[in-house]
Amino acid sequence: MKTILTGIRVNSEPTLGNFLGAMLPMVRLANKYSKEYNINIFVPDLHSIIAEVDGDFQKNLVNSIKYYIASGLKIDENVHIYRQSYVPAHSEMNWILNCVATMGELSRMTQFKDKSQGKESVNAGIFDYPVLMASDILLYSANYIPVGEDQFQHIELTRNLAMRVNNKYGNIFVVPEKTADQVKFMGEEEGVRIRDLVNPEKKMSKSAVSENSKIMLSDDPKRAAKKIMGATTDSYANIKFDMFNQPGISNLLQIEALINDKPLQDVIATWNGESKYGDLKKQVASSVSVFLENFQAELEAIPDDMVYELLETGEIYANDVADKKLLQLQKAFKLR
Ligand code: TYM
Repeated sequence: MKTILTGIRVNSEPTLGNFLGAMLPMVRLANKYSKEYNINIFVPDLHSIIAEVDGDFQKNLVNSIKYYIASGLKIDENVHIYRQSYVPAHSEMNWILNCVATMGELSRMTQFKDKSQGKESVNAGIFDYPVLMASDILLYSANYIPVGEDQFQHIELTRNLAMRVNNKYGNIFVVPEKTADQVKFMGEEEGVRIRDLVNPEKKMSKSAVSENSKIMLSDDPKRAAKKIMGATTDSYANIKFDMFNQPGISNLLQIEALINDKPLQDVIATWNGESKYGDLKKQVASSVSVFLENFQAELEAIPDDMVYELLETGEIYANDVADKKLLQLQKAFKLR
């Protein structure tokens, strides 16, 4: 059986960007394919500690699973939910793959460059982050990895590491699909990158300083609607999907499509050529606030116990699968 796999860090609650870029696509794929595919949703808690974590970490962790359930994830026997640090094979494989990856290729990762830019000192975890991510993927022979566009470079690195190992040691790893094919599988035209509402040149990020830049899943729905109404656009007075010249307007079109599960082309066709940006903003503001209201009500209703039960069952499965793959790699490296 093939595998679809994804993870979202838990440093703070997710933004609408995390939600639309990774969580919702995963839930839609899971509900569509859980009869034919393993659906692995894990909490990359080890990836989370590249940055400071606060006292609410465990609460955020449980919530991060609840978000999937609140957005409609149907749990069945092929859906596996687990915590990365509860499956030691991730760290073990990380070390072995460190001896395959090169300093040069890790230095070229844009996320590393962004996170280290201007800093006097960065922890080695930030540098090594993509290798642990490759381990997360390769341990489970995942074919598809629904992530936002900012993670595509890490998926390409994972493919390269897998091919390098396979070329030297025989077919140990399943090489994940190329990102272009992943995007097609997700039914999207291109990778998703939800933009910062104040500065749409940038992606919407948890770490943005201005509250108006981002929508958090716990935002009061009315407040979120106001943020959309205040989003930066442009002065063309012509609605067009053009991420390069009109990123603010294009971002709104993309949010409207993803949140309502409509094809982007249909949303573009509805609004193309219109001049009143206020009308589009009102529509998107309403979509976002209706979504948040329903989502937050669903979230309230999920008990913590349910999440812990899912994690414990998932971790038995995950350790079993991961240990088998790790042993294959250990044998190739003559460690066993
Ligand atoms: P994280 O927590 O930084 O991001 C989680 C997911 O959210 C997506 N994302 C966005 N998508 C669209 N627009 C945005 N503005 C936006 N911001 C974030 C990210 O692309 C990501 O899919 N490295 C992963 C976590 C991870 C992982 C893995 C994922 C660790 N191991 C193995 C898949 C498979 C990350 O970026 O987390």
